[in-house]
Amino acid sequence: MGTYAISGSASGMGAATRSRLEAAGHRVIGIDLRDAEVRADLATAEGRAEAVDAVVGAAGGVLDGAVSAAGLAPPAAAEHIARVNYFGSVALLEGLRPALAASGSAQVVQFGSNSSTITPNLPDELVAAYLDSREDDAVAIVSEVDVMFAQIVAYAGAKLAVTRWCRRAAASQPWAGSGIRLNVIAPGPVDTPLLRRVLADKVYGPVMEAVPMPVAETPDADTLAQWVEFLLSPAARFACGSVFFVDCGIDARLRADDWPNPF
Ligand code: NAI
Repeated sequence: MGTYAISGSASGMGAATRSRLEAAGHRVIGIDLRDAEVRADLATAEGRAEAVDAVVGAAGGVLDGAVSAAGLAPPAAAEHIARVNYFGSVALLEGLRPALAASGSAQVVQFGSNSSTITPNLPDELVAAYLDSREDDAVAIVSEVDVMFAQIVAYAGAKLAVTRWCRRAAASQPWAGSGIRLNVIAPGPVDTPLLRRVLADKVYGPVMEAVPMPVAETPDADTLAQWVEFLLSPAARFACGSVFFVDCGIDARLRADDWPNPF
């Protein structure tokens, strides 16, 4: 049985993944603001460093896998979304990489989102600031966006950037070359506390309700946790840098011909 780190383990899909892995006999080291083995704030550099140290220590330096599920969405503040969803995710995965490599065959799942492909006009300079690790610049850019859309731009931009970061890292020597498989799951709406907060918001609720959903049913957290469990299983060893959309057909409906794209 393996040892897995899960950020965002106290709620929603992180908690559902935790339940599945524990039911299968694995050990989970949860990372969250509360109700977790490692309580740390992934919005701050200190919190990220504390989380990495605590997880690596608890795991004895060897991890069989990790799930990066901690995240915030509107109506949370744009700055906070940027700090947690991109910089918190990347710092955690980079910090855990040596322990993942130590297992020889680790598997990692990062939570992206279909917002990464369906949100129009994401500023290139924001995505570049994320990918170049310029945290202050990214925060400044999202703070300057029109207040009504700042949180959406921060969220979708972070998900686009973290997905690109994963694809770049996944196929590189330190990751694939160290036996680590890194993949992204990109959900559409999933019934979790995060989505309920979006839907209850008077600005963002109607925006979310207006998105065309070919499969007119919202999955629960455990349904997505089954995907994560599969992506951590031996059968997924040949997926590397892949992005799995589980979004009720929203991306296909809006962008059917946009990808795959030939070289
Ligand atoms: P959730 O709100 O139920 O759980 C997220 C967890 O992250 C919470 O336990 C929260 O405390 C933790 N977290 C937030 N900020 C943190 C911080 N600064 N430090 C440490 N932990 C922190 O959310 P849900 O829906 O389970 O989301 C999981 C992931 O899936 C997120 O990355 C989210 O962006 C993504 N996602 C969710 C969708 C949905 O419709 N629910 C759709 C697409 C992507």
